[in-house]
Amino acid sequence: MATRIYWFSGTGNSFAVAKALRDGLGGAELVAVVQGLAGEDGAPAERIGLVFPVYGLGPPGIMKRFIARMPLPAGAYVFAVATCGGMMGATMAIVNDLLRKRGSALAAGFGVKMVDNYPPFGGAPGRASQQRTLEKADAAIAAIIERLKTWPAVTGIPRNPLWRIASRCVHWTFVRAFSGADRKFHADGKCDGCGVCAKVCPVANIELAGGAPHWLGHCEQCYACFHWCPKQAIQYGRRTARQVRYHHPAATLADMRRAGASPETPA
Ligand SMILES: Cc1cc2nc3c(=O)[nH]c(=O)nc-3n(C[C@H](O)[C@H](O)[C@H](O)COP(=O)(O)O)c2cc1C
Ligand code: SF4
Ligand code: SF4
Repeated sequence: MATRIYWFSGTGNSFAVAKALRDGLGGAELVAVVQGLAGEDGAPAERIGLVFPVYGLGPPGIMKRFIARMPLPAGAYVFAVATCGGMMGATMAIVNDLLRKRGSALAAGFGVKMVDNYPPFGGAPGRASQQRTLEKADAAIAAIIERLKTWPAVTGIPRNPLWRIASRCVHWTFVRAFSGADRKFHADGKCDGCGVCAKVCPVANIELAGGAPHWLGHCEQCYACFHWCPKQAIQYGRRTARQVRYHHPAATLADMRRAGASPETPA
């Protein structure tokens, strides 16, 4: 049976998980969600994996839009692995809702605690802490792969209904506040106009004009531009100049540029 893993990632955590799943599950096919949205995936697969970061206790908007229209054969086994800084909230419940609207359901859902990359909450920690988190994450990913080899039924949806409701409220508020929002991004004097930020943006939301980046108002909040800028010139608001820039050691700039190779047409 063919297994295809669709991934979305800003700083490589989810990409690293997708790669580990591909290798651990005997050669599943990896497809970036932006390429899936552009219709660049092949024939529908019987087993579908979705790997993505948690944003505001739910899935990223781009992943939700993809689930609503991805190739989904009847009876497909759909599993999801979300990477997060430690709090996944209602993520798997929301994924399950979207699949149910399409006559399917989430067969298995897992979370992996990774390095937190969210600048408004302080951003990534120092190297030693990153190292500890990534070592624990490697063990968690290995355990998920072993479980997935049996294609289990384990949705990862929180059992506590109050927590599910509270998480959905937080996610709804996050979506309302941040959908498309990018006005707080700016490049400081260290910018040399190299264009890396525009190339890593998965949704073509950055344009270079006059040798500096300009944000176009349909941001996915992935913070790839912020973390991958080689000069650390991109700031978010006023408090990020001294923050650590992070990307997962198993992800390269070329990997992220490939993910942005087929930018989704802005809604
Ligand atoms: C916009 C945004 C919102 C986030 N919200 C959460 C959250 O609600 N809970 C959490 O544990 N981590 C949160 N994080 C941290 C990321 O989920 C985590 O660092 C993830 O592994 C990043 O994956 P990536 O490297 O594949 O982009 C958030 C990060 C971003 C950029
Ligand atoms: S990646 Fe950084 S240095 Fe390069 S153009 Fe963008 S902001 Fe400027
Ligand atoms: S502008 Fe930056 S944060 Fe927004 S989607 Fe593009 S790379 Fe991600």
